[in-house]
Amino acid sequence: MSKVFYVPSTNLMGRGCLKDIGPYILELGVSKAFVVTDSFLNENGIVNKVITVLQEIGIDFVVYDTVKPNPTTENVHLGVDKYEKSQCDFIVSIGGGSPQDAAKAIGIVVKNGGDIREYEGVGKTKHKSVPIVAINTTAGTSSEYTINYVITDEERDVKMVMVDRNSLVSISVNDPELMLEKPSSLTAATGMDALTHAIEAIVTPGAYAVTDATALASVKLIFEHLPRAVRNGQDIEAREQMVYVMFLTGMAFNNAGLGYVHAMAHQLGGVYDLPHGVCNAMLLPIVQKENAKRDPSKFRKIAQAIGIEVVGKNDTQCADAVIAAIEVLAVEVGIPTKLSELGVDEVDVDKLATNAMNDACAPGNPFQPTKEEVIEMFKQIL
Ligand SMILES: [Fe+2]
Repeated sequence: MSKVFYVPSTNLMGRGCLKDIGPYILELGVSKAFVVTDSFLNENGIVNKVITVLQEIGIDFVVYDTVKPNPTTENVHLGVDKYEKSQCDFIVSIGGGSPQDAAKAIGIVVKNGGDIREYEGVGKTKHKSVPIVAINTTAGTSSEYTINYVITDEERDVKMVMVDRNSLVSISVNDPELMLEKPSSLTAATGMDALTHAIEAIVTPGAYAVTDATALASVKLIFEHLPRAVRNGQDIEAREQMVYVMFLTGMAFNNAGLGYVHAMAHQLGGVYDLPHGVCNAMLLPIVQKENAKRDPSKFRKIAQAIGIEVVGKNDTQCADAVIAAIEVLAVEVGIPTKLSELGVDEVDVDKLATNAMNDACAPGNPFQPTKEEVIEMFKQIL
């Protein structure tokens, strides 16, 4: 079966790259931007920095800044309505994963019509999104690079996962200078999300040489630079390296796939509105222990990427060492260890497990657990 590699056609990254985006936007032939963001970024001046660039190139704009963390179907449909009424012709998304995902959903519904719920799953649309210029402000989700996005259906308490090449943005922008003020907890959560993307992209049967190369390179950089970025948010070098991590992991999981860490984490996000990266960080060692029990062979190269000595170790010992290193890193960057600390209740675990098994990321896992096994994995960190 042929491999297909998706990545936006234009990707700007590195210190100060925001100020260089003007000519690339003009090449899209657009005139009025629908700026999708959240109220915090609008108030703290980040949105203004982008608007200044738009004004310099004569682009009109409307700001839609009420996207929630874990964006909802309502966020999407209100955005579509406002986009159409204000006669915009492209989207500028500013933020982390939530505004990026909301922007993709809005762009898809504008071009395909109907309700965003119709597009849950894989490849459900006919038409490409409106052009999106995705300006990222956190290092981790890679939403600005990928063909995936996630929207919460509040009526069903479900995070809908859409995997759709028509949602790929036109231009991605990753300027570490926009990330300097991020609190350490957010830096930790998004960085551990990136690590989860890398590990799941390596162990999935969808992995191949190109995705392995990018994922393994990112694992090395995460272990070197994430603790620095969490300790000192103003460390521009660590922030810049985490930008490269995001691009590398985005290339990997966008094309190889994910697995049960994401399938389970999406349900915790949907029911309890918990941060995606924190849920992934807590579930990552649990799911990888189960994966390694069945096939530890891929953990040897992950161990080497982390810098663990593998000579004299068999594959199972390499897997144990990798999982231990992930647990140490999670503690170092301040990830909680128990879901009960975050308000997760045992009575919901049955439903969480059922929904995880229906999640679009589940088939990418190297083995398919029974419902009892999914429940057991949740219970290990309750
Ligand atoms: Fe993720």
